[in-house]
Amino acid sequence: METKHDRVAWLKGPAFQCEDSTTQVNRPWRLVLLGAPGVGKGTQAELLSERLGACHLSTGDVFRAAKCLAEGERSPSMSAALEYMRRGELVPDATVLEMVRERVGCLRCRGGFLLDGFPRTVKQAEALQGILKEQNVALDGVLSYELSIEEIVARLSGRRICENCKAVYHVTGRPPKTVGICDQCGSPIVQREDDRPEAVRVRLAAYDKSTTPLVDFYRKLGLLRPVAVGAFPEETFERTMAALQDDNKR
Ligand code: AP5
Repeated sequence: METKHDRVAWLKGPAFQCEDSTTQVNRPWRLVLLGAPGVGKGTQAELLSERLGACHLSTGDVFRAAKCLAEGERSPSMSAALEYMRRGELVPDATVLEMVRERVGCLRCRGGFLLDGFPRTVKQAEALQGILKEQNVALDGVLSYELSIEEIVARLSGRRICENCKAVYHVTGRPPKTVGICDQCGSPIVQREDDRPEAVRVRLAAYDKSTTPLVDFYRKLGLLRPVAVGAFPEETFERTMAALQDDNKR
């Protein structure tokens, strides 16, 4: 299945409607992608979205989209969130949950969803369980991506993103066809502000403290699907699909 979602209801909020909001898929997948910053969640989410038709819902992308708004168009809590993000710290749970609750329609999407970067704390995970129950939908699984710290740092320092469509590249591992230009939309590609070394250190520490406990949280719920990250995105994608096949057989 080849589906490209515009994700406008997720990125801009509930006042906007996605062009493909009524597209029905045979089997809507509802998945969470867990893993340290830079492990490749966003890259896998893009590949999974194309294959499964589910929409890629990244909380980091919502914050980055808010960054493009003029100061007066942002709520005070969103402006504060951007400061946390710039430093590499986690945004407070209350702000993140308010933002997700506003976009709860995306969790009912007929195509399913791929949550990337949310939940990130046990409090967020507990709240998500409650929200999904209210919406009468359930998670099919939680993909947990595992990679060494050295490799993660190398990936983050070489990562570049399209400032328009947010497509992800790597200067050596996944370069665009033309240096500095997005293959998909022709816009410039740039380095993320929080990929600077000092912010990366803070992000990895926050991950270790707040997000690692989610592995146990989801293992206890019987939802955890570990995936060892491979040398190339396509290899990791094959392993991800294999983990989901196992899921189908359960
Ligand atoms: P967020 O946007 O979620 O960032 P993150 O979790 O730090 O994850 P990344 O986007 O950095 O990495 P990724 O795993 O998606 O890797 P990618 O595919 O790009 O969050 C940013 C910030 O927002 C947070 O720090 C926080 O402040 C805030 N925030 C967001 N959600 C929050 C929440 N719920 N609660 C509180 N705060 C929140 O890949 C990385 C690089 O590696 C790329 O260059 C890619 O091309 C390359 N690559 C990928 N796969 C491979 C491979 N297999 N082989 C070789 N290279 C590869």
